[in-house]
Amino acid sequence: MDLMELLKTRRSFRRFDQSRPVPDSVIQKIARAQQYASCSGNSQSLRYIMVSDPALVEEIFALTRWAAKLPPEDGQPKPGEHPTLFAVVMIDKAAQNDWTPMDAGIAMNNMTLAAWEEGVGSCILGNVARVPLAKLLDIPEQMHVYTVVAFGYPTHRSTLREVEPSEDLTYYLDENRDYVVPRKKIEEVIQFR
Ligand SMILES: Cc1cc2nc3c(=O)[nH]c(=O)nc-3n(C[C@H](O)[C@H](O)[C@H](O)COP(=O)(O)O)c2cc1C
Repeated sequence: MDLMELLKTRRSFRRFDQSRPVPDSVIQKIARAQQYASCSGNSQSLRYIMVSDPALVEEIFALTRWAAKLPPEDGQPKPGEHPTLFAVVMIDKAAQNDWTPMDAGIAMNNMTLAAWEEGVGSCILGNVARVPLAKLLDIPEQMHVYTVVAFGYPTHRSTLREVEPSEDLTYYLDENRDYVVPRKKIEEVIQFR
């Protein structure tokens, strides 16, 4: 896929084909993509746990909340629609600096784009129960659980729709239960001088 098409179509996905695991080759590509990400002072203070074991994926899934803007019956993936892979993104407190959250954003962007190039959709999840997750995965106190990223083969579409300044920015499901994500026009957010 052409880069701009990849950027445009790599959206947040919230329903997946749970019977179709992400192949090891794609897991390795996602792992490699984080390594290619720029980071402040080359500090490399992020750590990850990639979880593809189905039972453990389900335990992590139970600690996540999806699509806060939608009623749970619309936004929360149902049985059979769950992701098949999670990347737990952690910050090593001993190595972090003021820019580490940005480093995480850049790394997650690399990872989700690399996955999408292989047809694997994703959703970055900030809404995760961090304390139970740390306990579940035996994550040491020195690591801050920052986000998790869910991956899987999507079973819905998601498209951007350019909106006027007065319009609502809340994403929604259309008549096919596909996501529509309102986006401000370039003229509203960028001045060219
Ligand atoms: C830092 C961050 C945290 C997010 N946390 C959640 C979350 O907890 N649950 C969820 O369903 N989506 C979450 N999202 C996805 C956003 O809702 C989504 O990016 C936004 O609605 C725009 O849709 P798009 O990614 O398709 O452009 C998060 C995205 C980011 C970047």
